[in-house]
Amino acid sequence: MKSAAPRVKPPRIHHGDNLPYMASLPGGSIDLIYLDPPFGTNRMRRGGGAAYADQWRDIKTYLAFLYPRLVECHRLLAATGTLYVHLDWRAAHYVRIQLDTIFGGRNFLNEIIWHYRTGGVSRKWFGRKHDTILCYARTLGRHCFTVLRDGVYRTDGLKRDEQGRPYKSTTKGRLYFDARGPALTDVWDLPFLSTVSLERAGWPTQKPVALLERIITASSRKGDTVADFFCGSGTTFVAAKRLGRDFLGCDSSKAAVRIALRRLATEAERSSD
Ligand SMILES: C[S@@+](CC[C@H](N)C(=O)[O-])C[C@H]1O[C@@H](n2cnc3c(N)ncnc32)[C@H](O)[C@@H]1O
Repeated sequence: MKSAAPRVKPPRIHHGDNLPYMASLPGGSIDLIYLDPPFGTNRMRRGGGAAYADQWRDIKTYLAFLYPRLVECHRLLAATGTLYVHLDWRAAHYVRIQLDTIFGGRNFLNEIIWHYRTGGVSRKWFGRKHDTILCYARTLGRHCFTVLRDGVYRTDGLKRDEQGRPYKSTTKGRLYFDARGPALTDVWDLPFLSTVSLERAGWPTQKPVALLERIITASSRKGDTVADFFCGSGTTFVAAKRLGRDFLGCDSSKAAVRIALRRLATEAERSSD
C-alpha cells in the first residue's frame, strides 16, 4: 500500500549538494533510494576525462557528512520503501552502525556483496574484489520485495522430467526445483564496467545498469518513484526509465548532471526507435 504523503512530480535531476535538496522534498514521498556516495578513498576519482574529490580529513569527517543524509533518506521513504547504500571495505562497517541507529536494526534486510573480477593482484592480501551494498526497509514487513531468480542450480544429480522441469531423485521420490532457476542470494556476481565498455558515459566510479536493474526490480513496482542523491552519470535513472519507474535525484557536480541528462536523452531516442 502506498503512503498518503504527497508525491514529488518526477523526473527531476538537480545540480547541487544533496542535503538541502533532500530537505526540500516531502517526507514519505519516495519508494526506493539508492545511494552511491564517495567511498572515503581519500583520492581524486578520475575517469573518462572527468573527476570528483573523495577526500576527507579522517573517517569521522566522512561519517559526519553521511549521517544527516541518511537521516533524510529515512524521512523521505514511504512506509513501504527501501534504502540501498553502496560502499566498500573502507566504511561499510561504520555506516551499518549509523543505519542501525537511524532505521533500527530490525529493519536491516541485507548486506549485499557485489563480487566482480578486475585486474590487479595484491601480494599482501587476497584481492579486494567486492563492494558492499547495505539494504534497509523503512518498515520491515511492509516493504516491497520481489524474489529474483537467476543462474543455474548447483545441486548434484539434477535431472529434467518430460516437460523439462528440474528435479532430483530422493528417497521420498522426485524433489522438484523452480524451473525459473535459483532465487538470488545476497552475493551477486556481476561484471564490473570495463574502461572500454560501450556503457561507459565518461564518469569515474560509474556503476553497471545491470546492478541497478536488479535493485529496482527487487524493491519497487512499475510507476514507483526511485531516487538517487549521488547520481553521478545517472545509472539509476537509466535503469529506472527502462523499468517504467519514475525517478529523481541530484549530484553536486555539474559535469555529472550533464552526463546524466545526456544519457537519458539517448535512452529516450533508443526507446522511440
Ligand atoms: C560514486 S559516485 C556515483 C556514481 C554513480 N552511481 C554512477 O553510476 O555514475 C559519487 C557521486 O557523488 C557526488 N557527490 C559527492 N558529494 C555530493 C553531495 N554533497 N551532494 C550531491 N552529490 C555529491 C559526486 O559528484 C559523484 O558523482
